[in-house]
Amino acid sequence: MLRINFTSQELPVCFLTDRDVEQAMGNKIEFLKELISITREILSDLRPYAFDKISLYARTSDPAYPTKIRAMAGCYGRYSVVRSFSANERNREMGRRRSNNFCIIYDNETTDIVAIAEGNLISDYRTASIAVVGLDAVMKGDYTVAVLGATGSVGNAVLQSLSALDKKPRKVIISARGRGGFSNVKERLEDYIKRIKVDLEIEPSESIEKCIKGVDAVIDLISMPKPVSLVKEGMLPEKVTYIDVGKNALDHEFAMKFDTYVFDSVELRKLPSPATFALSIRTMLAERNFRVMEIGDILTGRERPGDMTLITVLGVPVVDAAFCQMIMRRLSLI
Ligand SMILES: NC(=O)c1ccc[n+]([C@@H]2O[C@H](COP(=O)([O-])OP(=O)(O)OC[C@H]3O[C@@H](n4cnc5c(N)ncnc54)[C@H](OP(=O)(O)O)[C@@H]3O)[C@@H](O)[C@H]2O)c1
Repeated sequence: MLRINFTSQELPVCFLTDRDVEQAMGNKIEFLKELISITREILSDLRPYAFDKISLYARTSDPAYPTKIRAMAGCYGRYSVVRSFSANERNREMGRRRSNNFCIIYDNETTDIVAIAEGNLISDYRTASIAVVGLDAVMKGDYTVAVLGATGSVGNAVLQSLSALDKKPRKVIISARGRGGFSNVKERLEDYIKRIKVDLEIEPSESIEKCIKGVDAVIDLISMPKPVSLVKEGMLPEKVTYIDVGKNALDHEFAMKFDTYVFDSVELRKLPSPATFALSIRTMLAERNFRVMEIGDILTGRERPGDMTLITVLGVPVVDAAFCQMIMRRLSLI
């Protein structure tokens, strides 16, 4: 942990790296159980919380690779967190994470900056927490879930968060692409399952088709851009809860297969980020072939999910703020 002295502020500000954040989390499962419980509480009633989302594209020298810069601000109790992030496909080509994040944590009472944190892990775990709370709200009894894009950063956080649920899935089937010197995808995934060491019944699958066959739920973490629909005609089970983290709803035709459309926050979906996604959602909502609700409506019993439920995780920034507070408390910074 670094200490920075801002000239405008007498208190030194801590800079927390992802490593500091990971260490502060301590026992991961205990931490995730608490985060899931707070996420459930936040999503159950979003009205008392203030949050915002802004988005802009920065020009780079190569027009094929614009850098997307976004900021999200959320307030939880006494502290606010502004998370800014940029995503660039070229990062992946260079073997780096696709997006880079920073969180600035403010004390609302003194307006001081308390800490600045790398926001990658915060984003991974808060996204995973929202996804599993949405899944848990809808699934009744025993269920199986397919995790598409399980090898990514959010995928890893999702598998750990699933293992922190009280009502864990009976089976988790995972998929990714063939990479990294393995003779096939299955071999790569078997190695991955051994390394992540989560307390779940996990089965590797060699293709998206096989992965989602007959499952009760899907968590889709495949990163954008999606040039073609990855889930093709006839592939989806007849009844399914589809947790859309990688923003598959961009595919209008795909989204129209569902009877119920759930957001973590209906308010957040009105904010244009990314613009194409907001436009696609607006078009769908104008057609109104389905019911629209929030995860909180299901959690509190105000609404019931349908047979074909699509949950789009937009990422409520209040959960970022709650996560940061948990970390700062464990580090005795607040
Ligand atoms: N909704 C939200 O609030 C929120 C927050 C954070 C992230 N996200 C989104 O979540 C997604 C995942 O993020 P991440 O950081 O985990 O990304 P990542 O680390 O790049 O992981 C992406 C995963 O998708 C797989 N994948 C990518 N393209 C694929 C394809 N064409 N076919 C099959 N599998 C493919 C990758 O497999 P390989 O390992 O084989 O490459 C990997 O498992 C991104 O779209 C990101 O924008 C959403």
